[in-house]
Amino acid sequence: MFLLIVPQSKELGNKPVIAGHIQVRPNTAISGTERKPPLTSEEMISKLNWFYSLEMNQVDLYTAQSKRQEDIYTSRTLERVAAIEQQHVDNIAAMIKKLGANPTRLGDVIAPLTGQIAGKLLGLAGTVVTLKADIKLEEKAMQDYKTFLLHAGGHEELFKLLWNNLIDEDLHTAWFANKVRELERWP
Ligand SMILES: [Fe+2]
Ligand SMILES: [Fe+2]
Repeated sequence: MFLLIVPQSKELGNKPVIAGHIQVRPNTAISGTERKPPLTSEEMISKLNWFYSLEMNQVDLYTAQSKRQEDIYTSRTLERVAAIEQQHVDNIAAMIKKLGANPTRLGDVIAPLTGQIAGKLLGLAGTVVTLKADIKLEEKAMQDYKTFLLHAGGHEELFKLLWNNLIDEDLHTAWFANKVRELERWP
């Protein structure tokens, strides 16, 4: 089981905290009895292709959002996040090849997760809506990376890759959430 730590504060009250709240304790979460049976190579390839597609979609999405964004800091951050998602595309592609298969893009796997709203609106309200959709997407990716991690303990290199990507997604989520809080507080 992953340990979810949800800090409460006066400001947030009982509202769900949208980011930066998930902490994974590796020694208890992904070891011993919590570790699931290892996947076959075919199962790994199939899951990796899904992540490969998701990461490619995210590169396109954040690149497009970056170009539409008027705020220079947010624009450059989205550009940087897109570059990190491209690193994820590349490390997943390399892992699929190591497992003896060709990386295969499965099409748009983002739209069913978030709808088509991200990046369509302009201005401050548009930025908040867009970043909230991005947060949902990152949280979905994190959840799926965690589930995959539980099955990947027998494959050290894959295990490390999934951890690294998961932590990057957590950092993206934290920045997006922080920006949303800032814009909602000081529009
Ligand atoms: Fe990613
Ligand atoms: Fe991300």
